[in-house]
Amino acid sequence: MRREKRIIPVSSGKGGVGKTTIALNLALALSRHGRTLLIDLDMGTSSVRNCVDVLVQRDLYHFFKKNYSLSDCATTLSTRIDPKGEYKNFAFVAAPQHLIEDVTNFDRAKRERLIDAINRLDADFIVLDLKAGLDPSVTDFLPHSNSGILIFTPHLIAATMAAADIVKAIMFRKLRTVFAPDSPLYHEMKGVPPALINALIDRVEDPYDSPIHDLDAFIDDLHHALGDHPIIRYVASAIDSFVVHFVINRFNGIRESYETAIKPFARALAENVTAHLAIEHLGWVVSHAKIDESNVRRVPVLIAKEDRAPARADSAMNELSRLAARYGKPRPAPARKPKAARADGAHVAAPYLDGQLDMLRRMQDDLGGVTYRENFLYIAYRVLHMIDSRRPGDFGDTRLYKRSEIAQALARRGR
Ligand SMILES: Nc1ncnc2c1ncn2[C@@H]1O[C@H](COP(=O)(O)OP(=O)(O)O)[C@@H](O)[C@H]1O
Ligand SMILES: [Mg+2]
Repeated sequence: MRREKRIIPVSSGKGGVGKTTIALNLALALSRHGRTLLIDLDMGTSSVRNCVDVLVQRDLYHFFKKNYSLSDCATTLSTRIDPKGEYKNFAFVAAPQHLIEDVTNFDRAKRERLIDAINRLDADFIVLDLKAGLDPSVTDFLPHSNSGILIFTPHLIAATMAAADIVKAIMFRKLRTVFAPDSPLYHEMKGVPPALINALIDRVEDPYDSPIHDLDAFIDDLHHALGDHPIIRYVASAIDSFVVHFVINRFNGIRESYETAIKPFARALAENVTAHLAIEHLGWVVSHAKIDESNVRRVPVLIAKEDRAPARADSAMNELSRLAARYGKPRPAPARKPKAARADGAHVAAPYLDGQLDMLRRMQDDLGGVTYRENFLYIAYRVLHMIDSRRPGDFGDTRLYKRSEIAQALARRGR
């Protein structure tokens, strides 16, 4: 089946949580199903090339400085690490090996050049290994309708909070484009001065400025001030159509992962962004010495020969795919409640959290006997099923939108 190209950004609030490991092995797994390109946008640490033992002839330096096309900067695996050519549909674009100021910290013009090039690429799956943090070299590469794949990990609360902040950044970036003076939605604001709304957005975004500390309160305020205004519909649909997808790395059992990763994440979203976001768990990767070792030896886990366990038979792969398909339908976000019925974020999130725990238990039952390598395959199957069963903007996207295009896309979706 020929799919529409899908761009899948992998991000985390902080470094060291397993972004590169997961992006790389996910891209390898996806390449068995279509042409896949992994792009290392973590400039400065250039981590993908350090995890794959092949000679890189051209990288993003050549794209930015030497005018090579992006596809001419891609590196494929050598027959030494992929002797049977099982991953011939996989290639990666490495970040520059050395720090070069204007390539590493690239400005808006360079970002847009890269976005255009990514949008022109001919591939089925494009996986982006983003850098940690929240500057435009991260947010400009995230879809406006979903989070791509966020990685966080038990017991690293700071990274989990930073992952929630990524969601906040995407949402506010979207709101600011909607309410920009040159927004195509401007004429629908019917006499509402954008300066007023932007001042309100500033206050909501600023966590030190209570009482409007989340987007739900923002909508209530808009409602109060404007009555039943079309602009509120855009804002509400921008929030309600958004889905957060995440993967837990270094999974260490249901209780630990739930209490020290998923629950704090969902609460942070409810308290600082909105209690109406749908969050979707795409799987986990256990902590395993072989995973770390494969990065050190520079042969990705999925390719590395296992010592004892033989490769799984096709029937087992089909089983994994079938299990992944069980979660084909998106779980609806919690319903929007009027202000009076809302307590603080912690309470709003409670019933939804129960659903997350339930999902974890079901996944635990499904994945009980799988190996650490199959953790990556399962995530890839979840991704494939989502791509095949949902609209493009529901997961990843078919293209990256430049700032100027986001409001146009939103206007189409809200109508
Ligand atoms: N599931 C895991 N089990 C064991 N080691 C891991 C696992 N995930 C990541 N690591 C190790 O943790 C370190 C950080 O992982 P990496 O993928 O580079 O994170 P990031 O890209 O988020 O900075 C690496 O040394 C990697 O080998
Ligand atoms: Mg990395």
